[in-house]
Amino acid sequence: LVGGKLIPWQGETSEVYSTISSTATYKPTLLGTIPTLGETEALSALDAACEAYNKGQGLWPTMKVENRIACMENFVTQMKTKRDEIVKLLMWEIGKNLADSQKEFDRTVEYIYDTIEDYKQMDRDSAKFEKHSGVNAHIRRGPLGVVLCLGPYNYPLNETFALLIPAIMMGNTTIFKPAKHGVLLITPLLEAFKTSFPKGVVNIIYGRGRTVAAPIMQSGKVDVLALIGNSKSANALQNQHPKSNRLRLVLGLEAKNPAIVLPDADLDLAIEECIAGSTAFNGQRCTALKVLYVHDSVVEEFNKRFSAKVDALKFGNPWEEGAQLTPLPEPEKPAYIQGLIDDATQKGAQIINTKGGETTENYIFPAVLYPVSKTMRVFKEEQFGPVIPIVPFSDIDEPLDDMAASNYGQQVSLFGKDVKTLAPLIDTLVNLVCRVNLNSSCQRGPDVYPFTGRKDSAVSTLSVHDALRSFSIRTFVASKDN
Ligand code: G3H
Repeated sequence: LVGGKLIPWQGETSEVYSTISSTATYKPTLLGTIPTLGETEALSALDAACEAYNKGQGLWPTMKVENRIACMENFVTQMKTKRDEIVKLLMWEIGKNLADSQKEFDRTVEYIYDTIEDYKQMDRDSAKFEKHSGVNAHIRRGPLGVVLCLGPYNYPLNETFALLIPAIMMGNTTIFKPAKHGVLLITPLLEAFKTSFPKGVVNIIYGRGRTVAAPIMQSGKVDVLALIGNSKSANALQNQHPKSNRLRLVLGLEAKNPAIVLPDADLDLAIEECIAGSTAFNGQRCTALKVLYVHDSVVEEFNKRFSAKVDALKFGNPWEEGAQLTPLPEPEKPAYIQGLIDDATQKGAQIINTKGGETTENYIFPAVLYPVSKTMRVFKEEQFGPVIPIVPFSDIDEPLDDMAASNYGQQVSLFGKDVKTLAPLIDTLVNLVCRVNLNSSCQRGPDVYPFTGRKDSAVSTLSVHDALRSFSIRTFVASKDN
């Protein structure tokens, strides 16, 4: 979709496979093909976005608020008719189970409606005039320009739209490259994008990052890089920009969220939340619990009950009733996870659950590793998959020191009861991460809450409310009383 046209493509294409087999003997399933664009096509998408923005004077950035909202409402109305198709593609392309695929779709629709409401409120607020020291100001929020938007494979609809929708709503124009896994599920929406927004506001491109995204950045014409994914890709793209210091960044990156289980924690609750936090969508969430610190005094009991519950999780294809663990969309992931397990076991950890590490062609059963120590790769790397390291501790300074030394700072889960212990601990933890989850696992939602991180975990803040601000700038018209 470039400049309001769906361009028929006769050039090179790439095949999109699911790691889920549709035959009795294992064989990845061919789901479809996508165009593999070259630099010329990528740059024409950029030109279309620049023209639609037209240095701020384009139809879209200057459009009346109610008209822009009408475009967005038209889009979401059309989108809702594609629910079944998109949910099915979520299951096949990324292996997300039925309930979570439906949730991803519904959450995205809700996100769009909430964005519209917040945007209306923002407009009402900015219609108010302020006056200080004899200077009147009419403050309003304006767009930033042209946004290059790239989303992740684990939420190819929801997180991508958590960037794209607020960027568009604020009057920016966009070039959007869908995630490698989860690319086909954008196809049912192409017509809706085309008919809902003026030409050039949303341009959708396909292809290899270095062929299509790199030249767009090298042009120097991108004002905002919006990416949820890894910092390696974000840095590489940022560095392509000839004036990267003037590039606005909206980034959601890696995290290594810990759980800290204190001696007086309600173990049933802690175990239940740690299971959900570490195994939902096979651990492929930036908000997943990726290391569990459990106090020495309860670690034996915790390990016994936790590992039994992990073993009881049901593996199945995404549409199967009750499937909690599902195939991994990245063919290379099982070998990577196995590498982490091997490294940890060679350095003294054990797999403490019976099924841990059992593999099929497209899956590896979550391995609970104990005791994990600092020299192990799984202690440091963001595993983003089914392996759960447990670290015993005797003094609370141990996890706190590790968190302070970590390159990441998104969230933490804290399990305990005694308010006198918890209160000062929370005061410390909020200065190390951006969300402290008390007796509950880490998560992004509800989407009205700020979603961000310290250090290498994020730049800028997302949420229904914050994202509109991240993709805009406060401007004002000033006048004096005279
Ligand atoms: O992958 C990172 C996502 O932001 C996780 O979102 O906590 O709603 O699953 P979630």
